[in-house]
Amino acid sequence: MFVKMQPMVRSAALAAFILAFAATAQAPTSLKEAYRGDFAIGAAINTAQITGQDRRGDAIVEAQFNSISPENALKWENVHPAPGVYAFDLPDQYVAFGEKHHMFIVGHCLVWHNQVPAWVFRDDIGNFVDRETLLKRMHDHIFTVVGRYKGRIQSWDVVNEALNDDGTLRQSPWLKIIGEDYIAKAFQYAHEADPQAQLTYNDYSLENGAKRNGVIALIAKLKAQGITVTSVGLQGHDGLTWPSVEDEDTTLSAFAKLGVKVAITELDIDVLPPATRQQSAEVSLKVQQDPKLNPYADGLPQSVQQQLAERYAGLFGVYLKHRDVVTRVTLWGVTDGDSWRNDWPVKGRTSHPLLFDRSGQPKPAFQAVTRVAATAKTTN
Ligand code: XIL
Repeated sequence: MFVKMQPMVRSAALAAFILAFAATAQAPTSLKEAYRGDFAIGAAINTAQITGQDRRGDAIVEAQFNSISPENALKWENVHPAPGVYAFDLPDQYVAFGEKHHMFIVGHCLVWHNQVPAWVFRDDIGNFVDRETLLKRMHDHIFTVVGRYKGRIQSWDVVNEALNDDGTLRQSPWLKIIGEDYIAKAFQYAHEADPQAQLTYNDYSLENGAKRNGVIALIAKLKAQGITVTSVGLQGHDGLTWPSVEDEDTTLSAFAKLGVKVAITELDIDVLPPATRQQSAEVSLKVQQDPKLNPYADGLPQSVQQQLAERYAGLFGVYLKHRDVVTRVTLWGVTDGDSWRNDWPVKGRTSHPLLFDRSGQPKPAFQAVTRVAATAKTTN
């Protein structure tokens, strides 16, 4: 018996070896295939991509991604620019694009302190409105926007960036006018408007302990009140050294323990010299132009490409380790040319934070990310 089994065992081992070798040598050709069964892979798309004007970008999105987020189309200032005025043309095209390609469609975002028109918080003579008025405006906005896409937008970023770096609540007009329960109200309204939708609290720098602890306390409180919060969104506007892989690991473990899912909602990795000392993704931040802050205007040197590839691989390794809790990883943009990081926090820089370069070609970081998934699958 033993002697008879030998050749079979040997050929099975050989087949396994060949498979493993093939899988590691030939990384899958698309991100979504590489991570199928682990988590969705998304991209934030802009107006040109939503409307079909950017054919090259659309081809990448269709081939590589199985989830989309609207970079700006569903922000309050765009979808609801004036009282009673809704601009659904672009968001309708956005949702149709996702449905056509059977994608997981994200809504971003309902309640935020940026990209919200001043009228939302003011009365006719320019004073702050009272709590009841603002709650009603919030309710109407959420019911109109979430209601329109009920059952079609699967996940909403309900509240975006409500915390300061120290974990306390940001003094936004929402907080000042409504009070602390504006967050609970926003989640409650969103849940009522679409009970099936996944609801996310989204923020940046949650890899820093103080801010993370603030979010943990906030979510625990909301859950204790019976409020539906499905997931925490880690924006992931990262750098080459921050957050460390250990920070990311700790963060994912902490949210897993809390019993919420995690989405990496806005991933990009900055290779440019930092323009500020603090780790922030506050969009209103503005730093003066300086040629020293823009060293790769003519292209990214191979050594930095490699650094970026390793950095992406490191982070995706942690996401994979926590694939029971990570539901989605979304890149904030399609190609480097599209990235908001070309203009933030310094205007007019040449940034290289994504997986596809300015000509739409996959970068070494792309190969690295697909290889991480392939390697994990052969060693499991
Ligand atoms: C950015 C967009 O990418 C830019 O086009 C826009 O000018 C400003 O906002 N955190 C968020 C996103 O939640 O909505 C921001 O998107 C980036 C930081």
